[in-house]
Amino acid sequence: MEVVGDALVFLRTLKTKYGLGAVSVRVFGYTHNIILDPTLAKRAFEHPPASFDPTSITWTILHRVFGAPAASQHQYISVFRRMCALLTKYFLKRQYAAEIIARTATNMAEILPQLIQVPGHGDCANTATQLPPLVRRSFSRATLQALTGKTFLDAHPTLLDDLWTLDESFAELALGVPSWLPIPKLRRASAARTRLTHALEHFITLEQDAQDPTASDAIRSLNELWRSENIPIPARTAILTSIFWAMQPNSTNAAFWMLLRILSTDNLAERIRSETAPFIHPTPTSTSSININISTNTHDLPNSCPLLRACFHETLRLHHGPWSTRRTRSAITLHTDKETYLIPCNEYIHVPHGLEYTSETHFQDAKTFNPDRFLRPEARTESLHFFGAGSSMCKGYAYAEASILVFVACALHTWDIKPAHGQWKLPRAKSTGGVERAVEDVDVSVTVRRL
Ligand code: HEM
Repeated sequence: MEVVGDALVFLRTLKTKYGLGAVSVRVFGYTHNIILDPTLAKRAFEHPPASFDPTSITWTILHRVFGAPAASQHQYISVFRRMCALLTKYFLKRQYAAEIIARTATNMAEILPQLIQVPGHGDCANTATQLPPLVRRSFSRATLQALTGKTFLDAHPTLLDDLWTLDESFAELALGVPSWLPIPKLRRASAARTRLTHALEHFITLEQDAQDPTASDAIRSLNELWRSENIPIPARTAILTSIFWAMQPNSTNAAFWMLLRILSTDNLAERIRSETAPFIHPTPTSTSSININISTNTHDLPNSCPLLRACFHETLRLHHGPWSTRRTRSAITLHTDKETYLIPCNEYIHVPHGLEYTSETHFQDAKTFNPDRFLRPEARTESLHFFGAGSSMCKGYAYAEASILVFVACALHTWDIKPAHGQWKLPRAKSTGGVERAVEDVDVSVTVRRL
């Protein structure tokens, strides 16, 4: 995936300099059609869902990356649609998603004030730390705990690190590189996957025996479905790992970049604190720490806090390069006014939605973080497709947005975060095919806020 960044530059050149609407390449015997023109991409997603195979790509990833046994493919395909319906219900539908968002907010209110140690009474102490691990220990923990419950995560303290270790080898494993090869990174990924599998076997059994009352309704419903369809435990652990993974790196990286961008832009943290003050109520405690009370309607943050939401969009515009990938189940035709493309059956279509996100023709001063651009009446976010498009679009986008917004607001109300070396500097980033990952530390000094 290191090549994704360069590939985007190359594809942008093909589009802008040579006016190409789509290009095809053959890799390992398959044809991959990369759609560069947004009109063609729109036409592709207008085709009925039946034109695409909904499971071939997800199954390949489930098998190669998350270790689902080959023998469970048929059962996976038979429950796929019902699983997607459950994910849509619990992460996208307002009345159900409110439960998981509220659980996440409660976790954040508990976890954030505890993370920065305040030794005894008196002045708040400065804690020197790095921003990416601070976001993982707070945001990742709060979101995963919202799904699994606390009991399970406390019993498996390496689980989050294991997910990240597996993520580092995602591209190689998805391409089919065997995990047993003596390559240190792959060996680490394989060991992490084994630990994740054991932990989740334990979790599924606990949940099944109703011994963990802290697990979410979403997890309970998924497990009920798998039980009723006799999905074997190894397939369930692989599917659960894949759901945890879908939840984690993109969201955590986005939360990190959003917090950093706000902190490093003049006066923005203060503006966000005022905007979110009706939702987040910090109160001092006797031990120079603070309690965070979060209003029960946090799922309304995206609608009630336009500046905070604009920061989320601006962060994704600058740090996210989403792709949609489909495999055709029948031949499809794509038209613009000038061109027609025929894509035969059993070929891949890839849409790199982010080609224009940092182009001056679409955004003035495109490289600058300027959330106010999304507050203008004429601003349009519908064409940005941060979460993909069509029937296989992200199943967690409403939750992703709400959880990141709550986290950033809570972090700004809980902590004063300053650059350790006097000035903010953006770390080098690696393209991932999703939200970029920082590959350098960001040293910060953090204090619990004085109120
Ligand atoms: C900032 C955070 C996130 C971003 C940027 C993101 C982005 C995406 C993108 C671009 C896709 C591919 C869509 C396509 O092929 O057209 C996707 C798929 C998916 N995402 Fe997310 N996602 C995020 C968070 C989440 C969360 C929190 C969940 C929680 C369950 C989730 C669950 C999924 C699932 C299940 C799919 C596969 C959908 C399918 O194949 O039908 N995502 N996501």
